[in-house]
Amino acid sequence: MQQPTITLTEDQIAFFQRTGYLVLPAITTSAEVERLQGIYDQLFASKAGRDQGDHLDLVTTDEDEQTPVLPQILNPSKYAPALIDTLFRANAHAIAQQLLGPDIISGGDHAILKPPHTDAATPWHQDEAYWDAAKEYDALSIWIPLQEATLENGCMHFVPGVHQQGILPHQPIGNDPRIIGLEVEDADAWTQKAVACPIPAGGATIHHSRTLHYTGPNRTDQPRRAYILGFSAPTKPLAVPRDFYWQTMQKTKWQERATQRAQTPPAP
Ligand code: NI
Repeated sequence: MQQPTITLTEDQIAFFQRTGYLVLPAITTSAEVERLQGIYDQLFASKAGRDQGDHLDLVTTDEDEQTPVLPQILNPSKYAPALIDTLFRANAHAIAQQLLGPDIISGGDHAILKPPHTDAATPWHQDEAYWDAAKEYDALSIWIPLQEATLENGCMHFVPGVHQQGILPHQPIGNDPRIIGLEVEDADAWTQKAVACPIPAGGATIHHSRTLHYTGPNRTDQPRRAYILGFSAPTKPLAVPRDFYWQTMQKTKWQERATQRAQTPPAP
């Protein structure tokens, strides 16, 4: 097992608590970035997880015959076990314990690809807007680009301090209920308050589950690969569930496929 090599300073912890995000210039080695990049490209080339419902397109109606615009793979380590024992994961786990406490739960991993010349942004959103309205969360994501992340290829942007508020009203992207991706309402008002975070390959950004964030289009000739690990403090049921009405209005192909899978009896 890999051992962590990073300890956050008191100043870094205080910055995260105040702003809801943190930028690290390096969370792993360049040798590991190269190895992860090879695994990552193979996963997307083979559309890993499509049959299991773990491969989806965030910004389109995600028909099986469509070429995905913003493809994602949920739980990629299920399909590439070499992603399990990495320095990135060891460091991410140690950092998450410093920020959330010792009893953290792994929220799984996630890969988001922006192919070259992709006009689609990942619109402004809070991750918790996708989650269970009846639970109280204290969670974060650690986002590592497997090449430099720049303004041109879709680096991360944050609005500092929003994590101290609740969940803002969201809607499916373009207000189209067939689309799985969510966007915050009145996104333009937030854009003016945004901080862009370009980072080198193998650097990382960390954001809280209520931090408002965005990545831009990829206007370069190269893919923009992001690999993400999630961690959560133990969740608690809320006495009064929140009204995430945008979830109940969604009717996506991904949900439809999940329902079909659940209804298909297991093969004999
Ligand atoms: Ni997000």
